[in-house]
Amino acid sequence: MQANELYLKLTQTHQHPSPRVLEVGFGLGVNFRATLESCLQRGVYLEYLGFEAFPVSREVLASVEMPLSAPARRVWSDLLEGWPAEPHRPFVLEGAWGRLEVRFEDVTQALLPGGWATAVYLDPFSPKVNPEPWQPGVLSKLFAAARGGARLATYSVAGEFRRALAAAGFVVSKVPGIGKKAWSVAERPEA
Ligand SMILES: C[S@@+](CC[C@H](N)C(=O)[O-])C[C@H]1O[C@@H](n2cnc3c(N)ncnc32)[C@H](O)[C@@H]1O
Repeated sequence: MQANELYLKLTQTHQHPSPRVLEVGFGLGVNFRATLESCLQRGVYLEYLGFEAFPVSREVLASVEMPLSAPARRVWSDLLEGWPAEPHRPFVLEGAWGRLEVRFEDVTQALLPGGWATAVYLDPFSPKVNPEPWQPGVLSKLFAAARGGARLATYSVAGEFRRALAAAGFVVSKVPGIGKKAWSVAERPEA
């Protein structure tokens, strides 16, 4: 499944002792749940910061089910319970498992934390369908938000996008995806 193979594993979040994930496009929380499950199984504290410009309702979130362990299910049902009907302020959920913050903002306009993320999940649809969050200005902000050694993963291998990632400072590679697909991984070199 893409959440595990692309985002979790290619960013090496599945092995990180104290992961801090920045996600562009929180969407249905599929990547969040996969990451949460992995961190709970390993007993590591997860920090997860998602940006979502067009949040779905609690009902839509609840309708997309995933097989989860009992501890992960508890976190997800806390999320569903607290998910705002009219999202304005950031949504924050904390526990012994970690901390999730979802900012209901367009990433092209958002301020991002500096040198914070160990992983970036870039998942805002495709550059063809939704070009804005794939632009050089956003990629430079994501580079600044990443720590040295952090990895960004995404399904796009579009040439222009990959050149923009490199221009932002990332070291970019193309890796085999599931089926005939290829994916992109980009690393912020250690300072
Ligand atoms: C493919 S879905 C993400 C799926 C999600 N990562 C998951 O695991 O369920 C793409 C998401 O990106 C969001 N999005 C698109 N453009 C955005 C932008 N400029 N800023 C923030 N979110 C954006 C969309 O609203 C949509 O929810």
